[in-house]
Amino acid sequence: MRSLISILDFSVEELDQLICTAKDIAAHPEKYWDACAHKTLATLFFEPSTRTRLSFEAAMLELGGNVLGFSEAGSSSAAKGESVSDTAKTVSNYANIIAMRHPKEGAPFVASLGATIPVINAGDGSHQHPTQTLADLLTIHKEMGRLHDLTIGLCGDLKYGRTVHSLIEAMSRYSGIRFVLIAPEELKLPDYVRVGVLDKHGIPYVEVTSLEDAIPELDILYMTRIQRERFDDPAEYERLKDSYVLTAEKIEAAKENMAVLHPLPRVNEISVKVDDDPRAAYFRQTMNGKHMRMALILKLLAEAEKNPAKKPLEVDGMVYDKACHNAKCISQTEQELRHIAKPSDDGLRCIYCDQLV
Ligand code: CP
Repeated sequence: MRSLISILDFSVEELDQLICTAKDIAAHPEKYWDACAHKTLATLFFEPSTRTRLSFEAAMLELGGNVLGFSEAGSSSAAKGESVSDTAKTVSNYANIIAMRHPKEGAPFVASLGATIPVINAGDGSHQHPTQTLADLLTIHKEMGRLHDLTIGLCGDLKYGRTVHSLIEAMSRYSGIRFVLIAPEELKLPDYVRVGVLDKHGIPYVEVTSLEDAIPELDILYMTRIQRERFDDPAEYERLKDSYVLTAEKIEAAKENMAVLHPLPRVNEISVKVDDDPRAAYFRQTMNGKHMRMALILKLLAEAEKNPAKKPLEVDGMVYDKACHNAKCISQTEQELRHIAKPSDDGLRCIYCDQLV
């Protein structure tokens, strides 16, 4: 049995296969109407969501399956202090697959250790959002006709924007990819992605602060929201919130076939006047997300049926009882969760949140 916690859980071949399946679902939806009959998806959302939760639910319903779950922590027994692991063990008796969003980094991973059914990470704190990456990959493939030889600009909150972290991990495995990282000093990419992915694999990138200067060379412009809910200091959010706004004037300097992506929700970082530009792909991206989540549910349920056994936790060179000091890591709150670290190029990192221990 497999879960999807990080986009690296899937090989490039598996990602390509998911894209093929998603395209087939979009072209021939009737073929899939009963594909998940008598199966149930549990959506356990401890944080707000529109696209991810509803597209997961739409995906399962369009596959002929059922859906149950909750959309806020306050309406679950987490409000009474129940652990993520106990929640996942319990829900394993009511559903066949779980999609979980949680504010603590590493929570879906901990859920996968407790659950006896596949768990999908639907976003964990500022850490990862692999199913948004599935939507992004299909969008790039459809808009550009390829996933290789692209200059990708990532603009905005690269520190807390979990979609950016997962997208970099995914795109770094395709050839000819170059990143332009456009962010204010305070919101630069965290080291576990910059050093642990880009430097480690020799992927070319530049870090800049001007969107206007960068835009003419981009094939993809991936805009992100400044993540207000992740800031410890509200004054810092107020100072940084309008760092970048893509306007109809600014996009005039872009290539004619550049695609603008955004995981959404948008606050004000893309003017609504850009929406009518054919390069604005962000609402097409939301539909792509549903088709990729359908393909993902099919894949994980098929694999669980073939091989229901859980894999034991195995991480190369793991070190026990190295405390993680990241206040946003699930290891800070989960009852009796053992602290475990893994070796990386720049030291030992927590297996739950990837921060240096
Ligand atoms: N892209 C994304 O995660 O959107 P939601 O927060 O609405 O799910």
